[in-house]
Amino acid sequence: MADLFLEVKNITKTFEGVKALDNVDLSIGKGEVHCLVGENGSGKSTLIKIIGGVHRPDSGAIIINGAETRTLNSIESIRSGVQIIYQDLSLFPNMTVAENIAMNQMLESNSRIVNWKTMYGEAKKALEEIGEEIDLNEKVENLPMARKQIVAISRALTQNAKLIIMDEATSAITKEEVNHLFEVISKLQKKGIAILFVSHKLNEVFEIAEKVTIIKDGKKVGDYSASELDNDKLVFLMTGQNFRAEPYKFNAGAADTVLSVRNLSKAGQFSNISFDLKRGEILGITGLIGSGRTETALALFGLNRPDSGEIKIGGRIVNITGPAGAIANGIAYLPEDRLSQGLFVEQSIGSNIIITILTGLLNRLKILVNSRQEAAKNYWIQKLAIKTPSHLAPANSLSGGNQQRVVLAKWLAIKPAVFILDGPTIGIDIGSKHTIHEIIRGLAKEGMAIIMISDEIPEIMDNCNRVLIMARGRIVKEITDASSVKAEEVFELISRDAGMGAAG
Ligand SMILES: Nc1ncnc2c1ncn2[C@@H]1O[C@H](COP(=O)(O)OP(=O)(O)OP(=O)(O)O)[C@@H](O)[C@H]1O
Ligand SMILES: [Mg+2]
Repeated sequence: MADLFLEVKNITKTFEGVKALDNVDLSIGKGEVHCLVGENGSGKSTLIKIIGGVHRPDSGAIIINGAETRTLNSIESIRSGVQIIYQDLSLFPNMTVAENIAMNQMLESNSRIVNWKTMYGEAKKALEEIGEEIDLNEKVENLPMARKQIVAISRALTQNAKLIIMDEATSAITKEEVNHLFEVISKLQKKGIAILFVSHKLNEVFEIAEKVTIIKDGKKVGDYSASELDNDKLVFLMTGQNFRAEPYKFNAGAADTVLSVRNLSKAGQFSNISFDLKRGEILGITGLIGSGRTETALALFGLNRPDSGEIKIGGRIVNITGPAGAIANGIAYLPEDRLSQGLFVEQSIGSNIIITILTGLLNRLKILVNSRQEAAKNYWIQKLAIKTPSHLAPANSLSGGNQQRVVLAKWLAIKPAVFILDGPTIGIDIGSKHTIHEIIRGLAKEGMAIIMISDEIPEIMDNCNRVLIMARGRIVKEITDASSVKAEEVFELISRDAGMGAAG
């Protein structure tokens, strides 16, 4: 294999006694699209940070373009053509598109005076290289996520990227945007740029990967040509298990209606939304971006004031003016954007979990009973299989997917009557997805009423007894027996009406 761009050999990395990587190898050919897959906490991001010179491995070698580097730091990594696009993209939000694209290169070239004209030229060139057009004067903070990614990719191009690494680039963008990103990736590939792509969505892996490297518990399981794998085989290699989802059965019987929504409307976002939700139900809401599903959810949680309409909880009309009011009425909301909205990353995992239930843990004398606190923290760590040596560890020592679980735990801990989950398994690996679905079903069986919002149609179809499809701010279809409808039909319904309406 003469044409390797990157070879990583026998890499081991330990964090405070936790072996994140154990003797891992990875080889990426020039211009190859390579996927790195594995469960949450298996070591993917750690490996990427080692290639990027952010973490120093305990042992092992990194060979870039045939040259072995012993002490790789981030500048050397960039100089040898490695560019990492992290989930947060590391852009400067209040600077323009042009500045973001060209700034690093200007700094790198050591010119003391920033030449604005050159900078604009460079930025324009980089965008043209991948056939994209974005207003160079626009501030990056005003761009949607998918456009920001294009800015980050263009920035990588100005620095002569030979390998672009994307760590879970698709978890915050829609299906259409993913398709667009994949077109950009194939343009990059034609230029001989290799891509290392991390995603928990295995259909994406099959769509773009030529090669797949699988890691599990910090060890390499193997590397494969994508053509040697199929979904079941890949899942088995990643998890050591096979999963088969059974549709969720809900027995309407005499279940009480907990939530009634009537003619909820907000100009430009959603109109005439009406539905009932019973104890024990898992109601799915799906639709493309702009369908109004998230705006509707936010209205139920008091974060988006509707213009008109009615919300009833337990038969009583409620006026929900903010999250505190929603929580007081028994409604909890797991936001889609959990990494920025849900976690105090420097605080311990344990305090993050119990933050919402502190009042419930106060005993009569209003003293926080330590043993109860401990019990609650450990209960949720165990129940959601959060991978950590201790609840005392800070939340930012967890892998991405495990941070997501902490946010989930903190809302579950208040045992709401109505739980709205927006993208409940974004960033969660396939095995844990299964676990989380089981937990959600279990909560519904105990009587919680659940609204599950998701882009992933299989997730909705397998877990919800009833599904509302939204498009352009309206409910366009209700599926009362999810097991009777095929995923393709749902996708068809969702897409047919798309293309207008509000954002989000
Ligand atoms: N800075 C750190 N301090 C302590 N432990 C860490 C640190 N970074 C990572 N770890 C640990 O290393 C292991 C691997 O984490 P890593 O983030 O590489 O996983 P991942 O495969 O990217 O998972 P995910 O799919 O959830 O993003 C985990 O057990 C994690 O808790
Ligand atoms: Mg990660």
